[in-house]
Amino acid sequence: MPKSITGFSKLSKEEKINWVAKTYFSKPSEAISLLKKYSNSDSKLQQLHDEFIENTIANFYLPLGIAPNFLINERNYTLPMVIEESSVVAAASNAAKFWATRGGFKTTVLNTEKIGQVHFIYKGDFSKLEKFFIAIQSKFLAATQNITSNMQKRGGGILNITLKNKTESLPNYFQLHATFETKDSMGANFINSCLEQFAKTLKEEALVFDLFTEEEKNIDVVMSILSNYVPNCLVRASVSCPIEDLCEKQIPNPVAFAERFVQAVQIAEVEPFRAVTHNKGIMNGIDAVVLATGNDFRAVEAGIHAYAARNGQYASLTQATIENGIFNFWIEIPLALGTVGGLTSLHPLVTFCLEMLEKPDAKELMQIVAVAGLAQNFAALRSLTTTGIQDGHMKMHLNNILNQFEATAEERHLIHNHFHENTVSHAAVVDFIKNLRKKN
Ligand code: HMG
Repeated sequence: MPKSITGFSKLSKEEKINWVAKTYFSKPSEAISLLKKYSNSDSKLQQLHDEFIENTIANFYLPLGIAPNFLINERNYTLPMVIEESSVVAAASNAAKFWATRGGFKTTVLNTEKIGQVHFIYKGDFSKLEKFFIAIQSKFLAATQNITSNMQKRGGGILNITLKNKTESLPNYFQLHATFETKDSMGANFINSCLEQFAKTLKEEALVFDLFTEEEKNIDVVMSILSNYVPNCLVRASVSCPIEDLCEKQIPNPVAFAERFVQAVQIAEVEPFRAVTHNKGIMNGIDAVVLATGNDFRAVEAGIHAYAARNGQYASLTQATIENGIFNFWIEIPLALGTVGGLTSLHPLVTFCLEMLEKPDAKELMQIVAVAGLAQNFAALRSLTTTGIQDGHMKMHLNNILNQFEATAEERHLIHNHFHENTVSHAAVVDFIKNLRKKN
């Protein structure tokens, strides 16, 4: 077992690389040369990436793909997608192309409210705490004026602060629950700075509040932090068309297809095991665009999954109906995104992606991301309810298998020809390559 190391963070990048290579690898020079291959020759660009995180030893590439032909509210977009999984970009492109000739995607931002909380312990009379809160409410706003003034100029700021009694859940536990409008920024730094100031004000003011006993004056702040659950920062995206318009090569019987599609969504509404995979498919699209635009996909994931469980059972994020011969399919999700701040102007490829999207504001980006999720779900459900997922997915995955076997150009040509007509499976491709190589 390797020995632990102290002071690792203080080593230079080269020393860190040497340490890891010598500690864990039988061939340290090969490990070092692999890491070097994944470092950028432009030292300024490399330094920028080094400094995004801590203890950086290399870059870890993910492909940036693009999905064209997204018609959203009558405007054409090409979506940037950062993802490692084959068939996701193809599926998005396919769904975009399908809906572009059927009226496109329609989207609405329903609300943009963000949330943050100061969690604290107060041992005493709740009615006195309520009086205290009312007495000092204006002081929260005054004390954060230097933090909020720029945001206010942009039309944002603190919307509301309420006191919440949570003692039924945990003894002596209370909250300041605050809501914010952060315009084009995701708002994490702004919200956390406001909350930390609220906490300071809360503690300071309690010490001089006459009605409190000595024990009540001693408010104990546990933590002050934004919530990534933003059920009032909501966006909706939808598609709809007359059922007969769904007809295409994969959908020869549109009525049967629409009914089967709606059933597939209903199953995900009532069956959590299916809902998780259904929503995973949606997140294929959402995460890919969120990553490409420099946003925090962990925050988005956590918030969306909490929303999917808001009624007490994890359920589908999308819904579908057939009404008066019209097929309707839509998604409603919470999304706290930014188009300024964070990585958005720091990472050159994020800047590139945002420019490709014609520099959307945060609201527009919410709509684009929701569409990516809806499109992905449409493509997956269309495959699942018609050909089965393996057909298209494995067709796209074929190149990965060929790379694994280091197939030559000639082998690739023969294999692609063969699997154009035959079903792709990992075993079938491996057998085909082995037979091909046996013959030669
Ligand atoms: P197809 O109909 O065989 O494609 O679909 P095609 O060759 O006829 O081409 C039609 C269009 O599809 C193209 O138009 C592209 O838009 C797109 P064109 O560009 O020619 O004008 N397309 C491609 N785009 C880029 N690169 C490609 C490519 N091929 C087609 N190579 C397809 C093939 C894979 C798109 C289809 O079968 C499909 O959508 N499958 C679903 C795949 C999927 O959902 N993948 C996600 C991973 S699986 C998963 O994780 C989620 C899941 O578990 C979720 C759930 O259970 O709900 C399934």
